[in-house]
Amino acid sequence: MDLSPSTPLIATLREFASVLVTSVVNFHVNLGGVFMLKYPALFSPINIGGVMLKNRVVMAPMAVNYAHLNGEVSERQIAYYEARARGGAGLIIVEAACIDAPAGREGFGQIIIDHPRYLRGLNQLADGIKSYGSKAIIQLFHAGRQAHTIITGVQPVAPSAIACSTVKDVPRELSLTEIRDIRDKFIAAAGYAYMAGFDGVELHAAHGYLINQFLSPNSNMRQDEYGGSLENRARLLMEIVIGIKKSFPKLVLDVRLNIEDFVTGGLEMAESLEICRYLEEAGADLINCSCGTYESGLTSIEPASYNEGWRTYMAAAVKQVVKIPVITGGMVKSPEMAEEIIEKQQADMVFLGRALLADSDWAFKAEKGHDEEIRPCIICNNCIESNFKSIAVSCTVNPATGREREVIKTAKIKKKSSAVVVGGGPAGMQAALALEDYGFEVELFEQGERLGGLLNLAAIPPHKERIALFRDYLIKCIRRSGVSVNLNHPYKLEYLKDQYPDHLVIASGSRPIAPTFKGWNENNCLQVDDILSGRFNIEGQQVVIIGGGSNGCETADFLTQSANRITIVEKEQFLAADMEKKNRRDLLNRLQAAGVKRYTSSNVVEIGNNTVNITSSNSQQEVLVADYIIAATGYQPNNEIYLKAQKQHASVHLIGDAFVVGGIREAIRQGENLAAMLAQREYSSIWE
Ligand SMILES: Cc1cc2nc3c(=O)[nH]c(=O)nc-3n(C[C@H](O)[C@H](O)[C@H](O)COP(=O)(O)O)c2cc1C
Ligand code: SF4
Repeated sequence: MDLSPSTPLIATLREFASVLVTSVVNFHVNLGGVFMLKYPALFSPINIGGVMLKNRVVMAPMAVNYAHLNGEVSERQIAYYEARARGGAGLIIVEAACIDAPAGREGFGQIIIDHPRYLRGLNQLADGIKSYGSKAIIQLFHAGRQAHTIITGVQPVAPSAIACSTVKDVPRELSLTEIRDIRDKFIAAAGYAYMAGFDGVELHAAHGYLINQFLSPNSNMRQDEYGGSLENRARLLMEIVIGIKKSFPKLVLDVRLNIEDFVTGGLEMAESLEICRYLEEAGADLINCSCGTYESGLTSIEPASYNEGWRTYMAAAVKQVVKIPVITGGMVKSPEMAEEIIEKQQADMVFLGRALLADSDWAFKAEKGHDEEIRPCIICNNCIESNFKSIAVSCTVNPATGREREVIKTAKIKKKSSAVVVGGGPAGMQAALALEDYGFEVELFEQGERLGGLLNLAAIPPHKERIALFRDYLIKCIRRSGVSVNLNHPYKLEYLKDQYPDHLVIASGSRPIAPTFKGWNENNCLQVDDILSGRFNIEGQQVVIIGGGSNGCETADFLTQSANRITIVEKEQFLAADMEKKNRRDLLNRLQAAGVKRYTSSNVVEIGNNTVNITSSNSQQEVLVADYIIAATGYQPNNEIYLKAQKQHASVHLIGDAFVVGGIREAIRQGENLAAMLAQREYSSIWE
């Protein structure tokens, strides 16, 4: 019998075997039968440096400031990471841990990994992650010149004494001895990670921190062997890589590298690709592609206007020059995008940052193909804003982030209590869902024809589409839940005569504040809601917007799309001062590009039919002519029903904008917390 590979039998067997292998990878078997994975590439295993990952979903390192002030890992932190491991991510990269405190520290709640005293907490963390089947890597970090003296108490250090233009603290140039000392501290930190039970370490060589400062020609002006040529600038990184590989060969060694700094004179792709070749040769197991520095502003943690997966080209280029696995990510939110990247072999793994803050179960839901159950991140960037303020990170849409041990609803209330929720905005919907989860019988009344409240308007301006996704997510959750919904149905207190619920939750939202300017009337001035709701369509007109907070500026952004010429008048010194910094910068750039005129520190004196008289910042009187005048003067609580209900019911609760006008985060949190509080009261009454 001829068994040469070309015979049909062997060829058929080979084909069969390859189909079988693909099937094992692409099908998941459960007791109910066999089902096809919707995202087979993303949920295929991969070997990194001898460690097998169950899938290619990587949790990006994100500093959340949950560590104790002394740098020890906290219980809160362990619970937060365990939730993401339980949620199915194949690899978890624990946030930037400082290898040299205090000089290299970035935040008060940052993990420190420069002494054996931290091993106990680090070990609990690694164990916790691994106990759910994920692999655990920890990021090793030194802030260099991006450290703030106010946090560290010492002058920052850097390759050269050049200040980062955003931090502004002038750093001290490191001596050769100090550079070698830092190199050894990175290697020692890898040793602590190994002892603590981590599968690997990631060197933070990105985002403008110390190693990146050495690599980047715009921050490294050294004349010695650590500066000048690319080989010299990469020397510190290579010495650390070689040192770790030699001392701890079993540790997976990952390097997070800026492929582009996006600053003038910074690291560019041609040099980064060369560094990737050096890294592979020196023994690195994995390259995690990133970009941007503090100075580049928007690129390392993007505002909402960036396209999903926009950075993928960088990883695709790296894959052309190395054979070791490559990670990409940044603005990857959907399983479709992650799958496409892997399937097209543009990268081997995909990291998710904010998407996993918004939903710890992202991987698990994507694996089941239940994409619609994923709670969408709205790219509000409140999380990174908290990080920069050195306070604990929370997530606008996910009230459980950072409170994983508090927000659990496994204990249901024992007797069937009832709650009526008045108002179907974010606070009302979240309260209804959480109450129902705890076991309450919930009825929701919404006076409008659809749920969503102010989310419906907030989703209209450019790049706010993800707010609509979040609204739709909440609505789908309500539909799937047992909450009974009454639309077009204002709640009346007379209903209490026939149906007296145990709890009455008022989430009746807010309404625009009527302006009090001299000359203002409803005929000569519209409000932001008139525009965003579509009641008025304005095209190609001269428009003056009074009020340059986020509402006014976003309305201006919306109106520029239909060729309107906009002027904003704001009494404070800055526009959109209430907004998160990255989205604000992005919005102001767009307004500037669209030619929006601005009068800040300016007050409205009087409104006419087509004129707005103002006193500008230099105390000059000016008359602005307008086809349309729009007031963006804020919102006030809509809480009349609460004041009346208090006299008729013993358990009435006010949440969301109806309580204090705030943002989505406050609304969601108050809805969730109220439910927890009422459930707690039910438990207590059972024990009494
Ligand atoms: C709150 C927060 C903290 C972050 N901390 C780190 C960090 O410690 N190390 C790091 O390399 N990147 C850090 N990043 C950047 C993320 O790893 C990621 O690259 C970025 O958020 C873009 O990805 P995303 O769109 O999936 O969020 C942080 C991002 C956020 C939002
Ligand atoms: S805070 Fe905002 S940007 Fe950050 S993860 Fe949550 S929704 Fe996304």
